[in-house]
Amino acid sequence: MRKKFIIGNWKMNQDLSSIESFFSNLSISDCQSETWVSPQAVHISTLLDKAKSAGKSFFVGAQNISEQEGGAFTGENSASAVKDLGATFTLVGHSERRAIYKEDNQLLNKKLKMALAHDLVVIFCVGELLEERKNGMTEAVLKNQLTEGLKDYPQDDLSRSRLMIAYEPVWAIGTGEVATPEQAQEAHHFIRRFLSSDLDLDGTNTPLLYGGSVKPSNAEGLLAQPDIDGALVGGASLKGEDFSQLAQIASKLMK
Ligand code: PGA
Repeated sequence: MRKKFIIGNWKMNQDLSSIESFFSNLSISDCQSETWVSPQAVHISTLLDKAKSAGKSFFVGAQNISEQEGGAFTGENSASAVKDLGATFTLVGHSERRAIYKEDNQLLNKKLKMALAHDLVVIFCVGELLEERKNGMTEAVLKNQLTEGLKDYPQDDLSRSRLMIAYEPVWAIGTGEVATPEQAQEAHHFIRRFLSSDLDLDGTNTPLLYGGSVKPSNAEGLLAQPDIDGALVGGASLKGEDFSQLAQIASKLMK
């Protein structure tokens, strides 16, 4: 049976009081799905502490790390520092990093290798713009992001399952416009095949996540698709109730 993952991307949201209320409304103890959350880096420890005292089990990660090992890079967070705090994963290449902070595939490839070198699982994000989908370029865009972003993937890492790919069509992120289950499945199937056939990676066992306006009302159709192993969730991951419902939907599909 394949595992299903619900991964919250809190972006630059949640203060101490909303984190408190997230935990009071979290109900995931009977879920078999895995629940992961990436808060702002300053709250990684807060989340780990709260989860422990609330007796909740989930993994905590970063939304971004520096491509540099350490040194004079004011304002950056190193992979080793987030790992030290107890983070187990990081996102790399979220579309907001690509669009707002102009992170290109070459830089993202360095971040990927830095994260792996510090034993963090990497959720590598890819996805096309609306314009690109309309022009029939979706597969070409994904190919390019994967080929350049995963270039020279460390071979000794292959057996350690530390890579996940999140397919997040940019037009569906934060817009309320979700890809149909068929559109999402088609892209995921393409990614899975491409990882194995062109990049010599383990497409079969690499978890593939869908992201873009996932919420409890549309999650089941998406998560039931054969090549969708989970969801990367922004807005609907901020409230404990919605996040728990998503975890329960994913858990039910594992049975
Ligand atoms: P959304 O964000 O669920 O709010 O669309 C998803 C993401 O940015 O990862």
